[in-house]
Amino acid sequence: MSEYFKYRDDTLHVEKVSLTDIAQRFGTPCYVYSRAALTDAYRQFAEALQGREHLICYAVKANPNLAILNLFAKLGAGFDIVSGGELQRVLAAGGAANKVVFSGVGKSEAEMRLALSVGIRCFNVESAPELDRLNEVAGSMGMIAPISLRVNPDVDAKTHPYISTGLKQNKFGVAYTEALGLYRKAAAMPYLRVTGIDCHIGSQLTEVSPFIAAAEKVLALVDQLKVEGIVLEHIDLGGGLGICYDDETPPVIAEYAEALLQALHGRSESLIVEPGRVLVGNAGILLTRIEYLKHGEEKNFAIVDAAMNDLMRPALYDAFHAIHPVQKNESTVQVYEVVGPICETGDFIAHGREMAVVQGDVLAVMSAGAYGMSMSSNYNTRPRAAEVMVDGEHVHLVREREKTEQLYASEKIID
Ligand code: LLP
Repeated sequence: MSEYFKYRDDTLHVEKVSLTDIAQRFGTPCYVYSRAALTDAYRQFAEALQGREHLICYAVKANPNLAILNLFAKLGAGFDIVSGGELQRVLAAGGAANKVVFSGVGKSEAEMRLALSVGIRCFNVESAPELDRLNEVAGSMGMIAPISLRVNPDVDAKTHPYISTGLKQNKFGVAYTEALGLYRKAAAMPYLRVTGIDCHIGSQLTEVSPFIAAAEKVLALVDQLKVEGIVLEHIDLGGGLGICYDDETPPVIAEYAEALLQALHGRSESLIVEPGRVLVGNAGILLTRIEYLKHGEEKNFAIVDAAMNDLMRPALYDAFHAIHPVQKNESTVQVYEVVGPICETGDFIAHGREMAVVQGDVLAVMSAGAYGMSMSSNYNTRPRAAEVMVDGEHVHLVREREKTEQLYASEKIID
């Protein structure tokens, strides 16, 4: 458990605030973030990269709450976006457009227009037809689009197949062998300006070596491009650094950053990174209350008020999240399946957890700050959870719990 989430007198606290109080005041399910933990993670990154020109572009998809984006913007962050919607959020949160990089394989014309009109830093282009479209859109606006190519280095990230992105068989990036040709094509296009190179090989990586293998392949291309007179301003090495959910031992931020810096040693290009999970994952938890304890023939179930619509990671990736009772108590320890109220067998938060709990207890689902709220849905017409940010002893509601009427407000009945 991180230093920001700790037991005090048998009650789990976030910074100086009791999670029992938060559950009472805001109800459950409820996401709770620690401002200090978010700030700490960002600063670790910034300090580790000090001394080299760099831009930390927080991957908005990990958690796009405006309060989180605003906090990172104030700390100096840029942003990695994958949609026009994320761009609008960044701007609404006070982020600077000229610190935004735009990734993603399917950018629409409208998204390109929006990004060009606000002046983003760079489009991370993922295919030849995307180059053509961007050139056309920029030309029609009388503008020049700054681009880098997202190169697929064909490196095994050794992570869950759904979140591995740097292998040949993945849909991401341009093939390594085609990159040179596409750079030549891009450099000759009138409404594009080649400014960088980009790669991102996957998420929740727990070793440094695949990052370095990818960086080396990217750097070899940078050198080949230089020979041809295509000089790049920045090298974007993506995101992907993992966190500890259970017993993983990923490199700490400083170690990872140091390895990247070493790989770039002696080069003048600026460095861009796109971390998501490592900045927010362990800075957030999901609070949920036990509605019922049900003792089945083979298994005991703790039926909680959070479900796969609130936290999809267990159902989608069989992901592990530690669970702790907010109030420690003396009841008997039993093994539980922690499940939600949704009508699907896949609706589980955790399997086979030993817990000493009674009905009505509040549980903290740990490491839920990344890809928790951002992947939530309204399945089963369940309003999305509230989100709260704690700052020392202060508690801020940063997103109200959705109201059921909102969920069908834009629907229509026909005759
Ligand atoms: N840059 C690009 C282009 C990405 O596609 C991603 C994540 C990131 C940066 C940030 O990666 P991170 O530092 O967060 O690993 N929903 C999955 C994770 C999907 C990651 C998608 N891309 C999960 O819950 O584990």
